Amino acid sequence: MSHDTPGPEHPAEFWDARYGASERVWSGRPNAALVRETAGLTPGRALDLGCGEGADAIWLAGEGWRVVAVDVSRVALERAGTHAEQAGVAGLIRWERHDLAESFPTGSFDLVSAHFLHSPVGMPREQILRDAAAAVAPGGVLLVVGHAGWPSWNPQPQPDVHFPTSSEVYASLGLPASAWELLVSAEHEQEVTDPEGHAATRTNNTLKIRRLP
Ligand SMILES: C[S@@+](CC[C@H](N)C(=O)[O-])C[C@H]1O[C@@H](n2cnc3c(N)ncnc32)[C@H](O)[C@@H]1O
Repeated sequence: MSHDTPGPEHPAEFWDARYGASERVWSGRPNAALVRETAGLTPGRALDLGCGEGADAIWLAGEGWRVVAVDVSRVALERAGTHAEQAGVAGLIRWERHDLAESFPTGSFDLVSAHFLHSPVGMPREQILRDAAAAVAPGGVLLVVGHAGWPSWNPQPQPDVHFPTSSEVYASLGLPASAWELLVSAEHEQEVTDPEGHAATRTNNTLKIRRLP
């Protein structure tokens, strides 16, 4: 999507400035889709791509997962590390700084999670998600949750931006159907608040696939 193609700014500079502008950017709660879609999975090794301030990684660690959590922003990673200490799960999470356009964590994982891995600068999302699929261990799950459109209070700020459907994300991974099982490909409307604190909605989509053992 054009929203995620390279722009004039470097992603680390952009995201460090974004996180540095306030003490907390996100809610501190795990994403609802993560909680919903990991119910019933046996905790093992998890990889969280674009972990931000760490809420998902911390929640996974609390559920018994050993987590590698990745972000391009040092500011976000430092904040996430502090939150993990406060939550008593620091020993279960390894924080790694990567520009995922340039480098990717080593290892294979029982869960690879990418929640709202969107960026207005310098992010080849399709390539990163193909690397994410390659990092899934046999029997493991890839969970990609993204926005399906703009929020209700600001329906079309950039008409040229295309948010891919979960089917488009799946097709872009180029995976052999014989080696993967499609578990979820769906849209969900989420209740959010607009910048003035009023109730609003945003539609997200979920792709959940499993590499066959
Ligand atoms: C929209 S935020 C989502 C954060 C978190 N996953 C969540 O659901 O709240 C996107 C995250 O991706 C990170 N990011 C953007 N471009 C990146 C890149 N090239 N490499 C690694 N992380 C990146 C940003 O720093 C940011 O934390």
